[in-house]
Amino acid sequence: MIISVIGSGYVGLVSGACFADFGHEVICVDKAAEKIEGLKRGQIPIFEPGLDELVKRNCDEGRLTFTTDLPSAVQKADVVFIAVGTPSRRGDGHADLSFVYDVSREIAASLDGFTVVVTKSTVPVGTGDEVERIIRETNPSAEFDVVSNPEFLREGAAIDDFKRPDRIVVGVTGERAREVMTEVYRPLYLNQSPILFTSRRSSELIKYAANAFLAMKITFINEIADLSEAVGADVQDVARGIGLDNRIGSKFLHAGPGYGGSCFPKDTLALVKTAQDNSSPVRLIETTCSINDQRKRSMSRKVQEAVGGNVRGKKIAILGLTFKPNTDDMRDSPALSIVQALQDKGAAIHAYDPEGMESAAELMNNVTFGTDAYEIAQDADALVIVTEWNAFRALDFTRLKSLMKTPVLVDLRNIYGRDELERHGFSYFCVGRPA
Ligand code: UGA
Repeated sequence: MIISVIGSGYVGLVSGACFADFGHEVICVDKAAEKIEGLKRGQIPIFEPGLDELVKRNCDEGRLTFTTDLPSAVQKADVVFIAVGTPSRRGDGHADLSFVYDVSREIAASLDGFTVVVTKSTVPVGTGDEVERIIRETNPSAEFDVVSNPEFLREGAAIDDFKRPDRIVVGVTGERAREVMTEVYRPLYLNQSPILFTSRRSSELIKYAANAFLAMKITFINEIADLSEAVGADVQDVARGIGLDNRIGSKFLHAGPGYGGSCFPKDTLALVKTAQDNSSPVRLIETTCSINDQRKRSMSRKVQEAVGGNVRGKKIAILGLTFKPNTDDMRDSPALSIVQALQDKGAAIHAYDPEGMESAAELMNNVTFGTDAYEIAQDADALVIVTEWNAFRALDFTRLKSLMKTPVLVDLRNIYGRDELERHGFSYFCVGRPA
C-alpha cells in the first residue's frame, strides 16, 4: 500500500509517520521547500513528544520520504490523504477551504489508476461532495473515490492518540474504497480500535460535533467553577462527583482559564456558521463560544483581585503561555487575552514558557521573557500559572518567596492546594475552590 499525504503540518506529519510505522510506504508532500528540506535532514518543524524519533526511524528504514513533487507522489499512491490547513476565514468565521480545493485540483491532474482520495483535514459538511466534483471536472476520466476520515488526535499526545484511537471514523460511499480504508487501518483494527463506517456527510459532522461537545463540556465546568466560588463549593469535588456517572464521564472536566488551541475555537465557530447557513442554529455552541471568549479575558480580574484591586505599575510574572502543555502552539491561547487585559490595566508582564516563547514573541508586545520561573519571579507582585507544564508542578516556594516582592500565587489550572501554599506564606488564588 502506497500512501501519499498532502500537507506536512501537524496532522499530515503525525499521520504520515504513524502510517509508515504501521508498515505502509508513505510519501509526505508539502509545497514549502524549506520545510521539506528540513524534514529530509530530520528537522521536525513542530514540538511534539516522540515525533522526531518516529520520523527518523521510519526514514532510516525506508518507509517514509518527503517531497515537494505532488504530481509524482499522487501518481504512485493507492491512497492520497488531504491534510492541509482549514483556518478560520477572516471576517465571517467560516472554515477557509481554498487550500483543500487547490490541492484537489492538483491531485485530480495526476491521478493514475484507481485511487482513494481522503480528506483528513477538518472540513465542513459537504466538502467531500465538492472535492469529488472538482476532481471529476478537472479530470473526467479519473478513477477515484472521495472518503472522509477525520482525525481526533490531541497536540502533545498525538502519536499515542493516533496509534490507540477510541475510534476510527470513515465516511465512504463505494465498497472498493471501504476495502482500501480497512487495509490502511488494519494494524489498529487488529488492535481492537473500532472502525465506524458511515456516510461522508455524517463523518464530516462527527468531527465538528465531537469538538463542539468537548468545548461545551469544558465551558460547562468553567461556569460551575464560577458558581462554586460564589456559593463556597469546590469545583474539583463537583467534577469528580458528576464525572463518576458513566453517562457524564470524568474527562474534560478540569476548570481553567478557558479553552484555546488551533481546533476548538475555530471548529466551534465553523459549526455555528454551517448551522446558521442551514437554518438550524446550534445555540448551545453559539453560547459556548461567547462564554469562552469572555472568560479568557476576565481571568485578568482574578489577578487584579489577588494584588489588592489594581495592577497598575505592578510586575506580574506569567508561568506558561501555550494553550496547553507539551506543545509550542500559541494559537488562541488564553495567555494572549490575559496578558493583553493586564497590560491594558497598566501591569508590567514578565513571562516564561518551556517551548512557546519563540511564537509568543511574535504575538505579544512589551513582554519581558525570562529563562525560568525563578528569574521572572524576582521582585514580582504576583506569580500566575496559566499553563500546567510539568516543570511548574514542583516549584520551590521557599525560594520563590525570598525572590518575590509579595508572595502571591494565582493558579489558573488548580495544580496546587491552598493549605500547602499558605504553609509557605503565600496568598493563594485558584479557580472554583473555596477561599
Ligand atoms: C482537540 C481535541 O481534544 C482532539 O480530539 C481533536 O482531534 C483536536 O482538538 C483537533 O480537532 O485537531 P487539542 O486542541 O490538541 O485537541 O487539545 P485539548 O487537549 O483537547 O485541549 C484544548 C483546550 O481545552 C486547551 O486549551 C486545554 O487547556 C483546554 N481544556 C481541556 C480545559 O480547559 N479543561 C479540560 O478539562 C480539558
